[in-house]
Amino acid sequence: MKKITKAVFPVAGLGTRFLPVTKATAKEMLPIVDKPLIQFAVEEAVDAGITDMVFVTGRTKRAIEDHFDKAYELETELELRGKQKLLDVAREVVPSHINCIYVRQPEALGLGHAVLCARPVVGHEPFAVVLADDLIDSSPGALKEMVDVYEREACSVIAVENVAREDTSSYGIVDCGDATGAERPIKAIVEKPEPAVAPSTLAVVGRYLLTEEIFGELDNVTRGAGGEIQLTDAIAALLGKQRALAYSFNGTRYDCGSKLGYLQANIQFGLRHPEVGDGLRAFLRNIENQS
Ligand code: G1P
Repeated sequence: MKKITKAVFPVAGLGTRFLPVTKATAKEMLPIVDKPLIQFAVEEAVDAGITDMVFVTGRTKRAIEDHFDKAYELETELELRGKQKLLDVAREVVPSHINCIYVRQPEALGLGHAVLCARPVVGHEPFAVVLADDLIDSSPGALKEMVDVYEREACSVIAVENVAREDTSSYGIVDCGDATGAERPIKAIVEKPEPAVAPSTLAVVGRYLLTEEIFGELDNVTRGAGGEIQLTDAIAALLGKQRALAYSFNGTRYDCGSKLGYLQANIQFGLRHPEVGDGLRAFLRNIENQS
């Protein structure tokens, strides 16, 4: 069994739900207190033992490349001013043994298409897909848990979580029949079904471990929900040939693709932040008392 060493981060999306801030910058660079969403995603992959980070980018995403690159001017300036702590923060964005690789997705044709753009870099290996706007608060991380499952079961592993039935049309939804427990064989998967026809309320969250055969399926899928090439449809096609497991991870997921989820994550991480935690707690108490 091949080890998982590569993670694909599809970051070419337009981020229209966060306009106007996303007009000229990447939604993946939105901060949770002081750290961008994409850095949380990369750290989760590092914690899972992944060494090659493959970013599928598009226009207006230059900030992501700059973020994971060396910042000469900034480092020189901080060095001159003797700001060692800040220098360390700037330097430690990504550990030195990690490779960052960038490929472009020329057209916004969907998540499946974005993953297909990474094929020349991933090659003939299993790999992870991480969607940075699903922020998972847990230690050592959902992806690490999934890699452990993959190493034991040698099949695709897809993170899921229960959602309200009225929300099924925002997610890929899996059908695991009557199976229970944290790891359930997937019988079927469908992209964004209406609540009335959703086979369950188990929703796909943005963490996937996939075998290389997914690329062959992505080659063949036609445009699905929203007129896009859907990763879900390729996984559905693969299910006829290979086993895949739905995995209920430990931890809390914040949907940082939505304004409410993003604000919730900022409050949760802010309360825990050594610099601002106490001040934020006092502020929240204050406004609670006023209402
Ligand atoms: C994508 C996937 C969907 C999955 C979701 C998780 O949808 O297509 O199956 O449930 O991510 O966040 P998107 O949120 O990009 O519309």
